[in-house]
Amino acid sequence: MEDGQQPASGVALPPHPTLGRYYDNDDERPRFVRRLFDSAARDYDRIEGPMALGWGRRYRREALQRAGLSHGMTVLDVAIGTGLVAREAAGLAGERQVIGLDPSLGMLLEARRQLGVAGVLGLGEQLPIREGGFDFLSMGYALRHLGDLTSAFKEFFRVLKPGGTVCVLELTRPANKAGAGIIRFYLRRVVPTLTRLRTRNAEAELLMRYFWDTIENCVPPALILDALDAAGFTDVNRVLSIGLFSEYTGRKPGEGGGSASPGNSEGTGNFFVRTIGHS
Ligand SMILES: C[S@@+](CC[C@H](N)C(=O)[O-])C[C@H]1O[C@@H](n2cnc3c(N)ncnc32)[C@H](O)[C@@H]1O
Repeated sequence: MEDGQQPASGVALPPHPTLGRYYDNDDERPRFVRRLFDSAARDYDRIEGPMALGWGRRYRREALQRAGLSHGMTVLDVAIGTGLVAREAAGLAGERQVIGLDPSLGMLLEARRQLGVAGVLGLGEQLPIREGGFDFLSMGYALRHLGDLTSAFKEFFRVLKPGGTVCVLELTRPANKAGAGIIRFYLRRVVPTLTRLRTRNAEAELLMRYFWDTIENCVPPALILDALDAAGFTDVNRVLSIGLFSEYTGRKPGEGGGSASPGNSEGTGNFFVRTIGHS
């Protein structure tokens, strides 16, 4: 999809085109992604550090705080993985306030082993969860793995309480050409090689290569903001840190507070984008 295109409300928005080097068609993609994460689960925390350039735990916590997560809120952490976002969410909201969801059993088991957090097997696009139960929904570094942003954001909206907050963290290809070149070299070449040397796990190495290809081919931030808006979220916002780390947030309108009807997108001029560090 080209920059500047608008997602029509209700129309599927895959986060990136089919990546034929990894799987033949989009029906195969979820199985391919699940296989990679299942195989990499035991090594994920060791390889996440270099991939996140040291912007790991502290950044996740600060991003959740910026989005308004506070003590006593109920949290659904979609794509919990090994629990890196959930751990910070539990630190802010309270130990028993967080539930995680992931389609990879390997990752869910790892999260349970490390955090003891309750886990649900499922996809972000089809949440097996009743509506209106959570104050806060987080999703860290999984937007590129969803099949369709339109249905996922509708699901996020559905399971939040009125007034609830969505907070999606994701890596974004730097807008600056030189920056994009440096990050490409680092994430596409250096990180997979480090992963191979550290883990001797070929699937983990493949996962790291796949990461960059999904970042490079991901739909632009403006379309992600538009899709959140089209799902019904208000106060849709993006905070960008060091030109690479994006935090997308939005609020489900409260009872009697503003329109909850989806599809009121008027384009990206509506959205507030704040940058931290250089872009
Ligand atoms: C890069 S890991 C991120 C884990 C964790 N949130 C973090 O911040 O480190 C991406 C996770 O997304 C999960 N995932 C993949 N496809 C998904 C989908 N369609 N819906 C929800 N989660 C998905 C993977 O199984 C994996 O655990």
